[in-house]
Amino acid sequence: MDNLKDKLNVLFEKEEIQKRIGEVAEKIDEDYKGKEILVISVLKGAIFFTVDLVMKMKTPIVLETIQVSSYQGTQSTGNIIMKKDLDSDISGKDVLIVEDIVDTGYTLKYLKEYLQTLNPKSIKIAVLLDKKERRKTKIDIDYTCFEIENKFVVGYGFDVDEKGRNIPFIGTLEE
Ligand code: IMP
Ligand code: MG
Repeated sequence: MDNLKDKLNVLFEKEEIQKRIGEVAEKIDEDYKGKEILVISVLKGAIFFTVDLVMKMKTPIVLETIQVSSYQGTQSTGNIIMKKDLDSDISGKDVLIVEDIVDTGYTLKYLKEYLQTLNPKSIKIAVLLDKKERRKTKIDIDYTCFEIENKFVVGYGFDVDEKGRNIPFIGTLEE
């Protein structure tokens, strides 16, 4: 089997990722002073970012997961399906959606609209990466670690057909 890691061009080294997540964690702590955050991690890709983010935060959290899917290979379809719903009631809670990347924006728009129907007190969104130029629908992102160009990324949770999630840096796949 050929090695996916060797085909990647490094975009962000792990130290750089951790440093930036630390800055965002600090900002979140400031914004949520005295509150508890219901963190909703979007499976599977955002697990990696979620762990590093919440471990750097001082604000108490409760962790939930949700899974939706819109992707086949490297092209977003805009067809979102719910694969795993929440396990608890989020009404009246301060919700922070933690997602790996915002690309077209369809996934986060769908998620935010769905979560809004469950009557949380507030909803904010944190993403590791933002491919701004690819946006096809309007969605406000509250916390962004890095903005990137339109390149397909792999590693640190990002997969290509489910492979490469545990590569410790974020790299681009030049196809
Ligand atoms: P959106 O609905 O187009 O914003 O797509 C968001 C989803 O597409 C993310 O949750 C990722 O799973 C996936 N995705 C978008 N770009 C990439 C990428 O460069 N690498 C890996 N997955 C990606
Ligand atoms: Mg995803």
